[in-house]
Amino acid sequence: MRREPATGNVQTADTAAQPRPRYDLVAWRRRIPLLTSFIPMNNCSQAPQLDITRAAAEAYLDSWNDAGMDWDAWMAEAHRAKEVFARLINASPDEIAVSSSVSEATASLAGALDLSGARCKVVVSEAEFPSVGHVWLAHKKFGLGVDWVPVREGTVHLDDYESAVDEHTLLVSACHGYYQSGFVQDVTAIARLAHERGAMVYVDAYQTMGVEPIDVKAMDIDFLASGNLKYLLGVPGIAFLYVRPELLEKLHPAVTGWFGRENPFAFTIKELTWAPTAARFDTGTPPVINAYISRAGMEVIEEIGVDAINEWTRVLSARLVEGGLARGFSLHGTGDPRRKTPSTAFLCPGDSHAVEALLRRRGVIAAARGPVIRLAPHFYSTLEECDAALDALLAVLEEDLPAGLAEHVHKGGHV
Ligand SMILES: Cc1ncc(COP(=O)(O)O)c(C=O)c1O
Repeated sequence: MRREPATGNVQTADTAAQPRPRYDLVAWRRRIPLLTSFIPMNNCSQAPQLDITRAAAEAYLDSWNDAGMDWDAWMAEAHRAKEVFARLINASPDEIAVSSSVSEATASLAGALDLSGARCKVVVSEAEFPSVGHVWLAHKKFGLGVDWVPVREGTVHLDDYESAVDEHTLLVSACHGYYQSGFVQDVTAIARLAHERGAMVYVDAYQTMGVEPIDVKAMDIDFLASGNLKYLLGVPGIAFLYVRPELLEKLHPAVTGWFGRENPFAFTIKELTWAPTAARFDTGTPPVINAYISRAGMEVIEEIGVDAINEWTRVLSARLVEGGLARGFSLHGTGDPRRKTPSTAFLCPGDSHAVEALLRRRGVIAAARGPVIRLAPHFYSTLEECDAALDALLAVLEEDLPAGLAEHVHKGGHV
C-alpha cells in the first residue's frame, strides 16, 4: 500500500507552473482520510468519504441514540437534502422527489406515464445504465414500445435521435453521462428535438451531477434523476427525481406510498390523494441516514462550486487521455474533455475486474466496467495522481498480467 502526505504533491517548485484549481486543493485533500493510503480514481462508481460526510452519518446515529427517535428532525433533514439537490440543478424543492435508487425513480416515472394515447413509445439510448433500460422494457407488458438509439464507439449521435423520435414517441430517455465511456450527451439538443416532436425527455444525470453544470430550466428537461454515491460524494440508498411542475397534474405513479399523499398523516386508506408537488413521487419512509450524508456531500460540491470542479476535472481528464495514449492504451469513447465526464475509460485485455484488483494492489482504486477500466478523478485529485495511476495501469498490463497475477486476485465489483 502506498503512503504519502495527505496534501499530495501540488505546491512544489516542479509543479509551480502547472495548472491548479481555483479552490484550496491542499485544504480539501486533508478532509479525505483515504488519500493517505490510496489514489481514489473510482468516482464514477463511489466517491471517497470526507470527514464532513462521516460527521453527517454520525449526527444521525447520535440523534437516534440520544433521542430514541426524532421524526420531525429526520423528515426536515430529508427535505433539506431535496433543497440542496434542487439548488444544484436550478430547481425548487417542490419539484424534487426522493427515492432509494435511480432504478426506483425511473420505475416511479414509468408507472406514472399515460400509455393510452397514440404516443406510447419510449426512445432509449443504448448508453443508459442497464437498470434504466430494464425499467422501460419491464413496462412493455403495459403497452410501452421501446426503440433504441445506438452507441457507436463509445458515443451517441444526435442524428440517431433524429431518426428514432417520431409522432409515437412519448418520452426520450437519455443519460447525461455514459457510465462506460464517460461520453457527455448534449441533453439540451436532445430535449429540443424531443419537444419539437411533441415528446418529453428524461435525463439520468448520475454520472454528471457534481462535475457538469446542470440547469433543468435552461436545458428544458422534463425529468431528471440522480443518486449520490458518485461525484455527489454520498452513499448508496438515496436518489432524487426532478419533475417539471407543469406535468405533475397528469402524473399518477403506480409505484407509490404514504409520503406521496397530499397529507401523509391523514391515514385515509381508501383515498388516493396526490401531493400537488413532486412529492407525489415520494414513496415510503425516506432513507434518513442517507439523506444526512447526501446533503453533506452535496453541500461540499456547492461550496467548491460545480464550475470550478468542472474546470479542474477537465484538466485532469486531458492529462489522463494524453498520458494514456502516450503509454499505448486504447481509449474508449471521446478524448475531448469538454464532451466527457472526469471518467476516462481504457479498453482492457481480458478481465477488467482483474485489472481493477491488481491496480488496488498498486495503491490505485479504479473502476472496471465490461471491457474497460475507468480512471475517474474528482475535485481533490492531482495531476501527479493521474500520472501515478497511469503508471500503475501500465505496470499491471505489462508486468502483473503477463506474470499470471490475475489468477490470484479477487474478482467482483460494482458500477
Ligand atoms: C448513469 C447511471 N444510472 C444509474 C445507475 C444505477 O443507479 P441505481 O443503483 O441507483 O439504480 C448507475 C450506477 O450505479 C449509473 O452509473
